[in-house]
Amino acid sequence: MSEWLTKTLELNTGAPVPIVGLGVFASRDPVEQAKSTPWILTALQAGYRHIDTAWIYGTEKPVGDAIKASGIPREELFVTTKLPWNHTKRVQWSIDQSLKNAGLDYFDLYLMHWPHSVVFDENEPRPRNPDGQLKLDDSVDFTNTWAEMEKVLESGKVKAIGLSNFSIKTMERLLATAKIMPAMLQVEMHPYLAQNELLAYCKEKGITVTAYAPTGYSTVRDDPTVAEIARKYDATPTQVILSWHVARGVVVVPKSANLDRQKENYRLFALSEEDTKIIDGLDRNQRVCNKPDEFGNVWGWSMERLGWD
Ligand SMILES: NC(=O)c1ccc[n+]([C@@H]2O[C@H](COP(=O)([O-])OP(=O)(O)OC[C@H]3O[C@@H](n4cnc5c(N)ncnc54)[C@H](OP(=O)(O)O)[C@@H]3O)[C@@H](O)[C@H]2O)c1
Repeated sequence: MSEWLTKTLELNTGAPVPIVGLGVFASRDPVEQAKSTPWILTALQAGYRHIDTAWIYGTEKPVGDAIKASGIPREELFVTTKLPWNHTKRVQWSIDQSLKNAGLDYFDLYLMHWPHSVVFDENEPRPRNPDGQLKLDDSVDFTNTWAEMEKVLESGKVKAIGLSNFSIKTMERLLATAKIMPAMLQVEMHPYLAQNELLAYCKEKGITVTAYAPTGYSTVRDDPTVAEIARKYDATPTQVILSWHVARGVVVVPKSANLDRQKENYRLFALSEEDTKIIDGLDRNQRVCNKPDEFGNVWGWSMERLGWD
């Protein structure tokens, strides 16, 4: 097994988190979501021990099924799920749903998926207003959602709690009333969106950072500078990008449904200081995953409200 699958960082709870995990966003299509068990299983069999899912991905059950089929003892795994924005008024109910979906007794990490709150609709996690914008529920503030997540932690149903898609601005407001410091922040991060200030802020607070969309998709994977460095190390562009993340002390959760690419994504290496600096120089504050829409909003929140500007 690659040494990178056994390397861990320590959360502020004292628990280790494997630095390379498998992302299991599947598709918006429930039929596709339900079909993800086989490729999650190949990843577990190849040695992955950290799985990143979310209620809204519809893959909690496939994750649970793959874990069961793998026969790997639960305590050897690190499983993350996320509270969806439409469950912010029913957090205690939601974690029970997630546990039931996955057939697990606990999650290692529970993240607030977004600072947003969205109107609850049993059949639609992304309900829309007539203008196409997400139906927000501004009667719920994320500070109250966090207080509910602190209760989930106390219940023992999760071993750590954290955030996703928060910025320094939104975290500052959350921390003003939080009793428990988040253990993790998961955000979009790759060489075109290095988020240096946010990373330094989290390091100073003892919050571990996970990069989502860590490869930067083909936008970053096809960058000629990355390709040139890859040739030098006889590696692939994805391996260069993921090696850059781990050198910065950032957890990565690349998603691949293909066994060869799953293996490629954990065969990492130490980049030289010089090459690390060259990749640092590619930063251009460019999002490739959750980008502003025609209204300039990301899921109904302005960049200013998100603190992403
Ligand atoms: N918190 C959030 O709001 C949030 C948002 C987005 C994602 N996430 C999490 O982060 C995980 C990863 O993010 P992501 O899936 O958006 O992006 P990603 O892992 O950077 O990219 C996934 C895409 O790249 C392809 N790919 C993977 N490895 C490759 C390789 N070595 N060479 C070429 N192509 C490769 C995959 O295709 P194949 O499957 O065909 O290999 C897939 O199309 C998600 O699965 C999810 O768990 C969280």
